[in-house]
Amino acid sequence: MIVHGGRPLKGSVMLSGSKNATLPIMMASVLTDQPLRLRNVPRLRDVNTAIALLQGLGVSAEWTGEHELTLQAAKLTSNDAPYELVKTMRASFCVLGPLLARTGKARVSTPGGCAIGARPVNLHITGIRTLGTRIQIRHGYVEAHADHLEGARIWLDNPSVGATENIMMAAVLARGRTTIENAAREPEVQELARALVSMGARIRGSGTHVIEIEGVERLHGADHEVVSDRIEAGSIMVAAAITGGEVELPNAPTHELDAVIAKLRESGVYVQANGDGVTVARDGKLKPVELRTLPYPGFPTDLQAQMMALLTQSSGTSVITETIFENRFMHALELTRMGADILMKGPTAVVRGPAKLLGAPVMATDLRASMSLIIAALAAENQTEISRVYHLDRGYEALDAKLGALGAQIERVKDEV
Ligand code: EPZ
Repeated sequence: MIVHGGRPLKGSVMLSGSKNATLPIMMASVLTDQPLRLRNVPRLRDVNTAIALLQGLGVSAEWTGEHELTLQAAKLTSNDAPYELVKTMRASFCVLGPLLARTGKARVSTPGGCAIGARPVNLHITGIRTLGTRIQIRHGYVEAHADHLEGARIWLDNPSVGATENIMMAAVLARGRTTIENAAREPEVQELARALVSMGARIRGSGTHVIEIEGVERLHGADHEVVSDRIEAGSIMVAAAITGGEVELPNAPTHELDAVIAKLRESGVYVQANGDGVTVARDGKLKPVELRTLPYPGFPTDLQAQMMALLTQSSGTSVITETIFENRFMHALELTRMGADILMKGPTAVVRGPAKLLGAPVMATDLRASMSLIIAALAAENQTEISRVYHLDRGYEALDAKLGALGAQIERVKDEV
């Protein structure tokens, strides 16, 4: 991706459906033999990976509209989620719960390492084991068997989003009641619960730390519209702010963006939020802020990299602490290559600004890191070349077209090597 910086973003753009809500809901299609029709599904690499994973199990997947995907697991033909797919996309591991609940048997590859931290799956495994599953880890695969799942009380060591989702999808078909304590409260968990309820599941308390699931005999088909992507929203809000532009996001999920709006306002950015929709503008200087990533409703780790790019332009010293993942500052080194002044010590980054950013060749290391480099490039002098943009295509739909429509000079070229 080649970006020529220095142009303020101006205009209005529609957000896509949420990636992190879509992926687990797609896995939920395994729980019923009837069709699950999903609307507002983003066209992303990760969605294609999830489709490939489901098709491998025997699920039929058909795009029934530009953003409408119909999944039907009429008959499952395999219980295997292979390494090739799980290592490409960790969210694949969330097929364990539904597969086990539907068939009593699942063999799912463990995901292995990750660019942003160790990201183990121990909480998924412990939780699902507590529901009466025999689990062995052999040859890099989790092999799980259960004659039937039995509801249980499960306490999570930390409020993991993926573990909460995986356990919830196993528990909806278990006998009796499951209680997940210290559950994740993220909007994506709430969205999955809404989808499961529309399929006939009995779930209470999603969005709080205690989720109660009353198992049912079977689930049925449903029609579900995916909510807009709060991380895409936050990313474009930050991009508008760094360029000193004015951007409206008419379908932003405003109520999910409180922490982001608060931090942007604290840094001197104008944000107007009403119902669904936000407008972001800036014409004055940016102020430094202190920021700590936390589970929802705290500031999301998925917007930390983008905020770091913005804070390189504020007048003063900002302090960013990453508490969710232990290695999520890879973008800082690339930002430094563009002229940013960032000092890292353990989970904390000290960002001194305003730094003059100059275009440079930089390399994306993960999805959100790629976005932070695009954001920095929008404010940099001259041309920035960002390589490995396939990371972006995993999670941002048509980003170049959307930013282009807001006035950014951004172009996608083929890699020469
Ligand atoms: C989800 O990942 C998101 N992915 C991530 O978004 C997001 O950063 C993360 O939640 C936190 O909000 C999807 O929804 C597909 P966690 P997940 O389990 O579920 C530790 C993006 O860029 N942990 O809440 O994997 C873990 O190591 C991605 O879109 C265990 O120790 O995150 C981490 O430190 C990146 N054992 C913390 O919990 C476990 O069994 C939170 O992870 C599970 C997690």
